[in-house]
Amino acid sequence: MIKLMIGNQKGGVGKTTSAITLARCFADRGLKTLLIDSDPQGSIAVTLRLKPQNYIADFILNQLRLPDCVTTVAERLDVLCGNRETTTMEQRIFTMYGRELVFQKAFELYEDTYDAIVVDVAPSISLLQACSMVFCQNVVIPISMDTLSVSGAGATIFSAQTIGDSVRVPIRSVGLLPTIVNKRFGLTDIVMKMMGQLSETYKIPILPAIRTDQVIGKATRAHKMVADLDPASKALEDYHAAASQLLEFFKVEGMNAQAQNGQSIAV
Ligand SMILES: Nc1ncnc2c1ncn2[C@@H]1O[C@H](COP(=O)(O)OP(=O)(O)O)[C@@H](O)[C@H]1O
Ligand SMILES: [Mg+2]
Repeated sequence: MIKLMIGNQKGGVGKTTSAITLARCFADRGLKTLLIDSDPQGSIAVTLRLKPQNYIADFILNQLRLPDCVTTVAERLDVLCGNRETTTMEQRIFTMYGRELVFQKAFELYEDTYDAIVVDVAPSISLLQACSMVFCQNVVIPISMDTLSVSGAGATIFSAQTIGDSVRVPIRSVGLLPTIVNKRFGLTDIVMKMMGQLSETYKIPILPAIRTDQVIGKATRAHKMVADLDPASKALEDYHAAASQLLEFFKVEGMNAQAQNGQSIAV
């Protein structure tokens, strides 16, 4: 089982793109995958033009069954969408006892159903980010090619440590993911150097870089996943390389004979 939160305190660094695309990479390799949107902006539903009957708030607050709240968007890939109600949900969770554990408790029952869970979060230090971190215990940090994105990554590493300490669960930052990378862009070298320092200081590996690719914008405009729009695109190739490294890290086998037979694999 692999659980990842995709986080960076800065917005526009490729969190949502990475969450959707990595989740799809896992699903395409045979892992039964759940993608969760904990961002009140509901970017995943907007991006994929999903109009589910129930959202994450219905699952968490009204305690509906998870299968009644998810939308299957590809083979082996379910999405639990977010919407504005997510903000109300956060306010309600705030008053609950053991609030950082709310996601962990709510999803516990369904964890065996999935081989991989990927959580997208809002670009802020929020209670829902804490809930997501405690639930996943593993954080992947996308860093786009600007210096503020590196500061945002630093803030995320720091909050992973402090939240982990306060609830006594080890929260690991498992990878820095360079995103929207254009080698011809002047700042790229500087940002990659800063990322190298962050990686050394905190002993966090740097994952294979995701190149800038127009297919990402095209996919968003077409409300499709990159794998459906252009399976041969360079961004998808890069995301597959990053997914391989993450699976390697978690020692999860990719597509195997069982998965090719149409069943998801036990991890
Ligand atoms: N590899 C890429 N190539 C080109 N554009 C990208 C790439 N990754 C993300 N983008 C674009 O960058 C913007 C921010 O991405 P998004 O995933 O929404 O970031 P976040 O969730 O961190 O706010 C979007 O317009 C998205 O289309
Ligand atoms: Mg986003």
